[in-house]
Parts: sequence; structure tokens; C-alpha cells
Amino acid sequence: MIEIKNVSKWYGDFKVLDDCSAVVSKGEVVVVCGPSGSGKSTLMKTVNGLEPVQQGEIRVADTVVTDRKTRLTALRSRVGMVFQHFELFPHLNVLDNLVLAQTKVLKRPLAEARERAMLLLRRVDMEAFSEKFPGNLSGGQQQRVAVARSLAMDPMVMLFDEPTSALDPEMVGEVLEVMMQLAREGMTMIVVTHEMGFARKVSNRVIFMDRGRIVEDCPKDDFFERRDERSERARDFLDKILQH
Ligand SMILES: Nc1ncnc2c1ncn2[C@@H]1O[C@H](COP(=O)(O)OP(=O)(O)O)[C@@H](O)[C@H]1O
Ligand SMILES: [Mg+2]
Repeated sequence: MIEIKNVSKWYGDFKVLDDCSAVVSKGEVVVVCGPSGSGKSTLMKTVNGLEPVQQGEIRVADTVVTDRKTRLTALRSRVGMVFQHFELFPHLNVLDNLVLAQTKVLKRPLAEARERAMLLLRRVDMEAFSEKFPGNLSGGQQQRVAVARSLAMDPMVMLFDEPTSALDPEMVGEVLEVMMQLAREGMTMIVVTHEMGFARKVSNRVIFMDRGRIVEDCPKDDFFERRDERSERARDFLDKILQH
């Protein structure tokens, strides 16, 4: 579903991605972790074409994202992305947040778009809030709406970039629950997160990044249970993060 092949990227002289390669199959859930500044967000942005790369190739399904001729708007509508900061439109109520891109980008008739929106709001348990504005919702509720909004576009894959790291602790669970449900339904997902409980329970594989490189890419059981086989950097990282 997603193929990242020998991708390198520079910001000026700074090499932010260093020869990264990875494959994500349909229905797979891959967790990406690593220290702050290691290039996780940049890698996510290159997958849906938000950031260009100087070397290598990225494919999503049949689309070569890194090909200059590719129409990225079409691709982006099929690659759902949920960021750390829920970027809902503040001036639109929840329902309209979900309807807008469906009618504008997918050209869905309004009635159909609304029906789809309500169905998805039900799935993230936000049906009762359809008339509310984002500013009146908690962070966890906003993030669940953001997930539903992405799903309204019928994405082939979903990319999550630290979707729970800006949330108060008591709201993390409700967002992870929505993501787990999505994983169980077979959605192809790449999730940047330090929620190792989620990684353990839901992921198929864990990718560990450090200084722009993919240092580890292994089945989750190997990542967590066979610590002695991991690189020193990955072990250091795990020791730190699992102490919390
Ligand atoms: N637009 C940019 N211009 C220059 N440097 C950037 C830009 N975006 C990110 N960086 C740098 O690239 C590195 C990787 O950033 P990022 O992908 O956000 O890491 P992570 O998500 O793993 O914390 C960091 O050192 C960051 O400062
Ligand atoms: Mg980041």
C-alpha cells in the first residue's frame, strides 16, 4: 500500500531524512517512534506529498507521490492525516467540518455527505455534538472529530502524527480507542506515537527512527520482547519511555 524507497531529504544543509526505506502492506498498522527531531513528522509529510524529497521514491497504492506530474490534491484526499493539533475549522460546526471537503473535493451531494458525516460521528461517539463548534469541545472530542473528518474522505490509508500528545491524560484513552477500532476494521495505518501500550496492543510493526534514519523496522514482539537484539539507541529510547 505504501512504499518508501531510499528516501533522503534535506532542509538546506541539514539532512532530515537519510536513506529511509519501508513498506506498509494493506491492513497493516505500523507505529513509528524515536526521539524528538529524528524526522518522524517529516517522513509522514512526505508520504502525502506535503513535503518534497530530493532523493528516492514514495508510492501510495498506484500513485507515485514523488513524481512531479502527480496531482497531489487527488492523492491527499485519499491519505487521511491526523496531527497533534486538531485542525478543525473553528467557524464551522462539527457536522459542517465533516461535510465541507466531501462536497468540495469529492463533489458529493449535500444530503449524502451529511449522512456519511453522521454515520462517522456515531462511530467516534460524537453524534450528539454535531451542532457544536470545535471551541466548545474538549481536546479528546476534537481529535475524535478530526479522525471522523479524515474518514469521511474514504481514505486508503491513515497517517497519525502524535495524535494524543497534546491531550490531557484523561482524554488519551478515548482517542486511542477510536484508533484501535479503526485498526480492527482493517485500516492501513502509520501512527507516530510514544504510546507504547497502543503499539504493543495494536501494531504489527514498529519503526524506530533516529537522526533521520530508520534504525529499526521489526515485528512488534521483537521490538518489545527481544530487547537484546535491538540497537543501543532503540534500547536507550525504550528504557526512557517505558519508565514513565
Ligand atoms: N521546515 C523546516 N525547515 C528546517 N528544518 C526543519 C523543518 N521542519 C523540521 N525541521 C528539522 O528537521 C528535524 C526533524 O523534524 P521532525 O520531522 O519534526 O522530527 P520529529 O517529528 O521526529 O520530532 C528537526 O531537527 C527539525 O528541527
Ligand atoms: Mg513530530
